Amino acid sequence: MREFKTAVIGAGSTYTPELISGFIERAERLGARSFAFCDTDMERGEILAGMARRMFRRAGVSVEIEATGDLREAVHGASYVLAQIRVGKMPARILDEKIPLRHGLLGQETTGLGGLSCALRTIPVVYGILEAAEELAEPGAWLINFSNPSGLVAEALLGRRPDARVIGLCNIPVKMRSAAAGLLRMDGLADCDFAGLNHLCWMTGVFKDGRELLSDILSRPIESSGLNNIPDMEYTPAQLRAIGGFPCGYLNYYYFREEMLARCMAEEKTRGEVCLELERRLLEIYADPAVDTPPELLKKRGGAMYSQAAVSLIEAIERDSGAEHVVNVRNGGMLPMLAPGDVAELRCRVTRDGPEPLPLRTEPGEHIRGLVRSVKAYEKLAARAAFSGEYSDALAAALSHPLSSDIKRTQSALGELMSAHRRYLPQFKDM
Ligand code: G6P
Repeated sequence: MREFKTAVIGAGSTYTPELISGFIERAERLGARSFAFCDTDMERGEILAGMARRMFRRAGVSVEIEATGDLREAVHGASYVLAQIRVGKMPARILDEKIPLRHGLLGQETTGLGGLSCALRTIPVVYGILEAAEELAEPGAWLINFSNPSGLVAEALLGRRPDARVIGLCNIPVKMRSAAAGLLRMDGLADCDFAGLNHLCWMTGVFKDGRELLSDILSRPIESSGLNNIPDMEYTPAQLRAIGGFPCGYLNYYYFREEMLARCMAEEKTRGEVCLELERRLLEIYADPAVDTPPELLKKRGGAMYSQAAVSLIEAIERDSGAEHVVNVRNGGMLPMLAPGDVAELRCRVTRDGPEPLPLRTEPGEHIRGLVRSVKAYEKLAARAAFSGEYSDALAAALSHPLSSDIKRTQSALGELMSAHRRYLPQFKDM
């Protein structure tokens, strides 16, 4: 088993102990022996490095963890570069949530205008991480990105650099496969077809013992989302039949648009404000030298099962296992409604050469195809704006989102977002 280095960029994230648990679980099968914990906030980077060292020590796993504020030093010689950054940290997310709401529009971290705002400040930074990794990491190293909005970041990177070794990752498909397994009364993860994009996906097939069972699942009402960060909504069997798939939790913002908007407006705190408080308490816990296991409190965050998504993906590449993972990569013709170069959230077979998309065994209906096409148009415009720094590209993206509203309202919300985040948007020179 070869030993390798992993660079974690944004290691000061309060999610990092989840990731470390994933490495500990696989310590006997995976030679992850050296870590660089990189963060622009060194205080947080050090706290998480300390917590990770104690977790590994408790598990009896011997590793080296170096904490650094220097990206180039962190990626140097790494085989895997994991990007989990939040530009502007939680206060920036809170503005993404609050400003659109003031204009009567959805305020959400990854969906709608809040997601566009997050993408504009995140894409150039993750692209910089890719460039540093290509220059300094081990040849053939992989950049695995979970930074939000993960699918759109992957679209931007792979749109610009189609051959880059980039994988966009999210915990939602793992959570959905686990929910489907529960509905089928089986353990582990169900075998499912996914059709769509990150945070815009549907399960269009669920397979067990060679039989396709989605219509059985959809014949009962289901609650989607099962996520800590999104309210559950109940779908009736008639609605599910019309939709033609099992929707991910983020689709609640589309299918229950008015109710979800009203809820967001009525909440005393945005999700980001709730998370700010959770982060404060989590960091206090992680800083305690007596703590060496992830606290229960971490389960209150929305990213549960992300360690499973991330570290089992690394395991599949490292061990050339051919395991199936649902990840964000170029579609390569698997989804009929997208161009081959468009990034989608796809079931893939993962080997040493990375993820290879697998064909769908079910046909997504026209409803799903149409919504995917329209959000993909938004994503491409958003990616273009993030690189071009042209306000008209950003406005075109905002207007193309299906949850957008009339031009004046969209324009004033976008203008306010862009001036609030001015210092994180250096590419927009004429604002
Ligand atoms: C889910 C999403 C992630 C998102 C997280 C938010 O896991 O897939 O993209 O970052 O929820 O959780 P939070 O606790 O930050 O609201």
